[in-house]
Amino acid sequence: MASMKDESNSKGFKVVVISRDKTKLDKLRNFVSPSTKGNLTTLVGNVGSEEQAEEVKQTLLKSVGKITDVVSSLGFSWWQGGPPHTQPLKELIWVMETLLFSTFVSWKTFFPLVKDDPNCTYTFITGGAGEKLLMPGTGFLTVGSASTLAFCQILRDEYPDIPCKLNQVKINTGVGTPEHMVPGYLNHMELGEAVTTLVEKKNKSHTIYNINCPADLKTVIL
Ligand SMILES: NC(=O)c1ccc[n+]([C@@H]2O[C@H](COP(=O)([O-])OP(=O)(O)OC[C@H]3O[C@@H](n4cnc5c(N)ncnc54)[C@H](OP(=O)(O)O)[C@@H]3O)[C@@H](O)[C@H]2O)c1
Repeated sequence: MASMKDESNSKGFKVVVISRDKTKLDKLRNFVSPSTKGNLTTLVGNVGSEEQAEEVKQTLLKSVGKITDVVSSLGFSWWQGGPPHTQPLKELIWVMETLLFSTFVSWKTFFPLVKDDPNCTYTFITGGAGEKLLMPGTGFLTVGSASTLAFCQILRDEYPDIPCKLNQVKINTGVGTPEHMVPGYLNHMELGEAVTTLVEKKNKSHTIYNINCPADLKTVIL
């Protein structure tokens, strides 16, 4: 999950990334060039818990001040635990917690920071897995992703007039690093750049950007 503070007139965004895992955040810090490291703040926290999300919000406000843009990209990349009759309820609860409950709790916590400002954005990254069974054994991935798609839909319908730009990027293919690229998959850096451009433009709201292939990053978003 990332919150951004737009400083695009000078030197880009200040970005805050929240994760439950400090090791992942340290890895991210190492990935960023020394000259721009000052623009990245990392915070450890579980945005699926109401108490912890609130704590993270307070720390965020103290450390960076006003938040202009929120990107919610929660969940997991892949799940193929098997067909439903083989699964315990615990597994379905975990899937729903990771894909839906964290998306809801973090939205409820962070949306008030941006909702009344037309220069602010809230963007959900979602997946096309929610529309169909991708392959045998991936059913709970579809159930979880579908619930996130439905949540985004009801936000558009429940809040048709909010000034904040509320958008969804729906990725209907895989995402990979250059070292592990599959034809048709999106390069993670190119996807990140496209999302940043979308956030910077702030020209549309209540829109679903459907990304089916790498070329769509340019035609659909840019
Ligand atoms: N990867 C793909 O090929 C692909 C394709 C199509 C669509 N998508 C969509 O992209 C979105 C993100 O998936 P991804 O592939 O980027 O998965 P990912 O690499 O597993 O990232 C998901 C992130 O969600 C975070 N998260 C989950 N629950 C959290 C919580 N309660 N508190 C804080 N952080 C939490 C995880 O953080 P920690 O575990 O570090 O806390 C993790 O960094 C999903 O909506 C997915 O449907 C991905």
